[in-house]
Amino acid sequence: EQAGKGEYDHFMHKEIHEQPTALAQAIEGRIDHGSGRIALEDFEPGTFEGIESVQLVACGTSYHAALYGSLALNAAGIRATALLANEYSVSAPPVDDDTLVIAVSQSGETADTLNALRQARASGARTLTLTNVVGSTAAREADDALFIRAGPEIGVAATKTFSSQAVMLLLLAQRLADDVRGEPHADLDSLLPELAAMPDRIDAILEASTADRVARRYADSESYFFIGRGLGFPVALEGALKFKEITYEHAEGFASGELKHGPLALVTPETPVFAIFTGEEDEKTLKNAEEAQTRGAPVVAVCPEDHRAVAVADDHLRIPETDADLAGLLANVQLQLLSYHAADLLDRPIDKPRNLAKSVTVE
Ligand code: AGP
Repeated sequence: EQAGKGEYDHFMHKEIHEQPTALAQAIEGRIDHGSGRIALEDFEPGTFEGIESVQLVACGTSYHAALYGSLALNAAGIRATALLANEYSVSAPPVDDDTLVIAVSQSGETADTLNALRQARASGARTLTLTNVVGSTAAREADDALFIRAGPEIGVAATKTFSSQAVMLLLLAQRLADDVRGEPHADLDSLLPELAAMPDRIDAILEASTADRVARRYADSESYFFIGRGLGFPVALEGALKFKEITYEHAEGFASGELKHGPLALVTPETPVFAIFTGEEDEKTLKNAEEAQTRGAPVVAVCPEDHRAVAVADDHLRIPETDADLAGLLANVQLQLLSYHAADLLDRPIDKPRNLAKSVTVE
């Protein structure tokens, strides 16, 4: 087992460091820089013509990627909703043959996600699986499959696959907009070079991260809060899930604007607030963070060096400047490192947290 970890003590740490390669593999050959179009191998141009709405079904970290994808799809002018696969049997919105249901699953074997996929198929929806595992049940059972090509992920805590799922959903959003409305939505002239630069930007974070120091500074806290807005919201949820999963400490993720609607009652000097800034209404997120700071909570800003939040915050986890569509994914790498180092300090069994399985094959 140690051989598989290479120079790292844990698979999770190795897999965090594999993200530049994983993302390069995910986008390789899928962007036609000449035409500025997204080329998804088995999907001829026009494949998604006629799709009226998209439902993304997933669990856990994959659900957070699905939520990220649903926001990207909506921004591209495609009606999309992310749904917890385990709730789908009791709360599925109506589907018809103009609905595309996308199962997002690293393993392609999650029972809850398979159930939602089967239900969607039986109801007449068109189905697509986004997965890391070629030949998985979800890949075989959906009408179509798209692979994230992240390479094997051994650590129970999903890391590189989240980044790859989110990037693939960004590409898919552009592709759907192109097929359905005849034009990709985002300013692809700026997004595509930023996407291509993601591996280098993540490398820069991995080389210079101070997440280990920040983890040590807040090691004795009572609870850890993560806040974000827009694409920063799924990242806040993911930051908290990762933290609780491997440290066993209490952590919650909130939409920044929700703090004042209840969670603020929990805020004390013992509850650090990690604020994610993606460039989407950052001034509001900063105000929300300051509201927590006024109640004594230390604020850790996850943002670029010259961001105005740096002067306000008690600590800073730095990310390179990039497009708002991608900033949350860079912030997420810092939060993965934070969780990893916090769990390491507590001497937790990082790759195999208690009570959890890599692939949950029961309902
Ligand atoms: C994430 O760290 C967890 N291991 C878990 O939430 C996981 O993402 C979830 O069980 C879904 O798994 P899947 O992507 O293989 O479907």
